[in-house]
Amino acid sequence: METEGHGAFSPTAQEHAAAPRNYGPLEDYNGNARITGPCGDTMEFWVAVWNGLVEDASFTTTGCGSSLAAGSMTTCLARGRALDTVMGIQQEHVLAALGGLPEAARHCALLSANTLRAACEDYLAWAKSRGIALKPPTKKEND
Ligand code: FES
Repeated sequence: METEGHGAFSPTAQEHAAAPRNYGPLEDYNGNARITGPCGDTMEFWVAVWNGLVEDASFTTTGCGSSLAAGSMTTCLARGRALDTVMGIQQEHVLAALGGLPEAARHCALLSANTLRAACEDYLAWAKSRGIALKPPTKKEND
């Protein structure tokens, strides 16, 4: 039986590896993280967060095509989404969006998701240090 994600790149993963989206540092950002994985490759993510939304996200990698595909898809999953949602992006979400990765490359999606989350945590620390409200105030209903 053919098992998806073993041995071959999906058309979506091939496409993101060949033409990665959101590659390179953001000019304006308020969160950044760089992590070197056990494979020795380093990924770096930048986020621009405003009013609880990740308005922009970008990445670089020193790694292979699958890390390009994973980083690219991870930024696509993050951009325009609520910070809470973005911080919940996991390896399996990146893999699902890519249509899988070969077994040996699945950790690229883990490194990618972890580095994005670390960039969001860097934003949270930055915002807290400046007393910036992390969420817009919510109106309390009086019933
Ligand atoms: Fe190193 Fe994928 S990130 S092989």
